[in-house]
Amino acid sequence: MKIVVIGGTGLIGLKTVAILRQGGHEVVAASPKSGVNTITGEGLKEAMAGAQVVIDLANSPSFEDKAVLEFFETSGRNLLAAEAAASVRHHVALSIVAIDRTDNGYFRAKVTQEKLIAASSIPYTIIRSTQFLEFLRGIADSSADGNIVRLPPVLFQPIAADDVAAIVAAVALAAPRNGIVEIAPERAPFNEIVARYLKAVGDPREVVRDREARYFGGRVEERSLVPLAEVRLGRIGLDEWLRRSQTQA
Ligand SMILES: NC(=O)c1ccc[n+]([C@@H]2O[C@H](COP(=O)([O-])OP(=O)(O)OC[C@H]3O[C@@H](n4cnc5c(N)ncnc54)[C@H](OP(=O)(O)O)[C@@H]3O)[C@@H](O)[C@H]2O)c1
Repeated sequence: MKIVVIGGTGLIGLKTVAILRQGGHEVVAASPKSGVNTITGEGLKEAMAGAQVVIDLANSPSFEDKAVLEFFETSGRNLLAAEAAASVRHHVALSIVAIDRTDNGYFRAKVTQEKLIAASSIPYTIIRSTQFLEFLRGIADSSADGNIVRLPPVLFQPIAADDVAAIVAAVALAAPRNGIVEIAPERAPFNEIVARYLKAVGDPREVVRDREARYFGGRVEERSLVPLAEVRLGRIGLDEWLRRSQTQA
């Protein structure tokens, strides 16, 4: 089966492409680096020719509110139009748990991306993942003031990129659900997970439990970042992920 992975050079894209190729599929790892650009439209028609499944794992180069919204809106429109013209049978996209219950600029852009998909004529599956374990440093940096990292003690359930890629590949090979699948593994307070992570990687910053601390500028409550249902998809918890990262380093 021919599968196009948009953002096939990214964190999740690289891993997903490898899994699908191991399964014997013809996989196009599409991104600006390989001449496929969902913003300018360059290379899209050629990449789509004969494809049955398209997996959108692209990400905006800028996370600034306006730039990220423009990215997911334009990219989504161009990509879905090219897929419709090529009669693609399944569009898979990676989104984020709780984007419609928690407010920040990046989440608003992902809501727009999801709406475009649901309104298109192409059968689809949206996978809503929690934050990647690989993103913990970025989260700590975004919440840091000097040596202090302020985080609210709300529930947090980060997932390893290896788990995400395995689930994305499996979903892409299954029938479209025309709906949303949520994925998330081990659950614990946000500040505790980031504190455990910083300690394990030898980062001296202190994590402070602060009910008023925001997440990328948005206010979060107890269940703002986790699935509302008891979802436990993903086998790799923080300790196992740290062990694997340290073995690979
Ligand atoms: N971070 C999280 O915790 C989290 C959680 C849940 C879901 N997600 C979602 O997961 C998805 C993948 O994230 P990631 O961290 O794997 O991304 P990433 O590592 O930042 O990779 C981004 C990919 O997008 C490609 N790209 C950028 N501009 C493009 C364009 N104009 N046309 C086509 N491709 C373009 C890049 O290509 P080049 O290499 O050529 O630049 C790269 O392959 C994103 O949609 C994100 O919203 C993230």
